Amino acid sequence: MSIAEHNLPESLNREGDWRHVFAYRPMEVQIERAEGVYIYDKDGNQYFDASGGPMACNLPHGHPRMKAAITAQLDRYAYTHPTLADPIRAEFCRKLAEITPGDLDHAHLVCGGSEAVETAIKIARQVQLNRGQTDRYKIISHRDAYHGMTLGAMSASHIPGAQSVFTPMLQKWPSIRQYSDFDRPAGTSREEWGVTCARELEAAIHYAGESTVAAFMATPHGCGADYACVPPDSYWRTIREICDLYGVLLIADEVVTGFGRTGKWFGMDHFSIDPDIMAMAKGISSAYVPFGAVSVSSRINQPFEEGVPFVHGFTNQAHPLGCAAGCELIDIIRDEALLENCNTQHERLFGHRDALLEHPTVKDVRGWGLMMVLELVRDKDTMEFFDREVGAEKLLQGIALKHGLVFYGSLYTPTRSPALQRGLPIWVSPPLSINGGEIDDLMARVEASLSEWESATL
Ligand SMILES: Cc1ncc(COP(=O)(O)O)c(C=O)c1O
Repeated sequence: MSIAEHNLPESLNREGDWRHVFAYRPMEVQIERAEGVYIYDKDGNQYFDASGGPMACNLPHGHPRMKAAITAQLDRYAYTHPTLADPIRAEFCRKLAEITPGDLDHAHLVCGGSEAVETAIKIARQVQLNRGQTDRYKIISHRDAYHGMTLGAMSASHIPGAQSVFTPMLQKWPSIRQYSDFDRPAGTSREEWGVTCARELEAAIHYAGESTVAAFMATPHGCGADYACVPPDSYWRTIREICDLYGVLLIADEVVTGFGRTGKWFGMDHFSIDPDIMAMAKGISSAYVPFGAVSVSSRINQPFEEGVPFVHGFTNQAHPLGCAAGCELIDIIRDEALLENCNTQHERLFGHRDALLEHPTVKDVRGWGLMMVLELVRDKDTMEFFDREVGAEKLLQGIALKHGLVFYGSLYTPTRSPALQRGLPIWVSPPLSINGGEIDDLMARVEASLSEWESATL
C-alpha cells in the first residue's frame, strides 16, 4: 500500500513556507507548542514526543525552573566575551565536576555534540604533543560509529553513505568491531566475547602503527545496527587496559548517554573504569539551549593549567545561557530524584518488552535506563528489513503521526546508512521525569502504530 493510499497527513507546501530554508524536508507536523511529554501542532493535535528529538530532551518540555533559570541569566547578561571572568561558567564547571566519573574535573564548554567531539579530538592531539608524542594523531573508533558531522567527528565516524560524500576531506582512521550479542558465538559468554571484541583494539593499534595513535573514542553502548547493545564489564575493562598499555587516550562519547539517560549520571558509570576525556551534549541542557562540554582528567589538565595554550575556541563557547541551563538541569535531576525515577520507570518501560516482541516485525527490544531501541525487520529469521522501494520507514512514520506519535528512527528515512540495513532502529527515550501512566500511553501508541504498519506491509 502506498503512502497516498494510506490517507496520511498532507506533505508541507515546500514551494511556500519552506522555500528559503536550505536543504530542509520537514515532517508534516507543524509545531505550535510543546509541554511535558507532548508536542502540539497548529491544529491542536497532540503527539507523544517518544524520543525527545534525537534523544536530546532529558527533561520534559516547558519545565518552569529551566525557563526561569535561562530567563534570569538573560536578564543579567546573555553574552560577554568568553575571556572575561564569567561566574556562571565557573559555577557550571564546578557542578559538572561533582557528577563526572573519576577525576574528570576540568571542562571546556561548547555548543553541541559535534563540537564536543571535535574538541575532544583536538585535546587528545595536544595531550600527545605535551607528552612529546608528536606522531600521534589517529583516532580509532567503532566501525558503525556516529560521532557528529564536523570533519574531525566524521573522520572518527564510520557511516559509509555519509562518509563517501566527503572522502577526500576526511582522515582515514582505523575502526574496530564493537561488542554485539548478535554475532556472539554459541557457547561463548558475554564476558568472554567482551574480551575478544575489545582485543581488536590492540590489533588496530599495531596495524595503524603504535606510535601514531592518539586516542580510542566510543560511546558506552553499541552503535549503528547494534545501537543500545550494552557491552559487559569485560569489554570496557579490556579496552582501558589496552589504552594504558599503548599510551592511547580513552575518549567516551556521552553525548547521548550523559545526564541520567541510562539511570546513572553517565553511561561509563556502569563500568568500573574512567575515561581520560568525555564529550557531552544533548541532555546537558535538555536542548533548551545549544550546549555541550568536554571534561578531562586532572593529569590531562595539568600542562594546560601550567600555561600550554589550547589551540581552540569558539565565539559562543561556554555561553552563559547554556551554563545557566546546565546548572539548573543538574539541580533539577537531583531535586526531583530523576535518576531514581529513570530506574523505576525503566522497569515499567521494559515491562512492555514481551508484548512488543510478539509483533512479527519486532526482532529485538534492548537498552538501559530510559533508552529503549526496537529493531524492526521484515523477516525475523534473516533480520532483513524491507526493500527501499517499499518505503516502509516513511509509511511507519506517517502511521505513527496518525496515532499521535513522533519518534526518531523514522527520521533516517531518506539517508539511512547501509550499516543500519539489518533492521530499522526505533528509539524510545522519553524525559527522565516520565510517569507510569505516560509510559503506558506511549507504548499503546507504539503498539497501535506497529500493528497498523504490519497489516499494511507484511
Ligand atoms: C554519540 C553521538 N555523538 C555526537 C553526536 C553529535 O551531536 P550533535 O548533533 O549535537 O552535533 C551525536 C548526535 O546524534 C551522537 O549521537
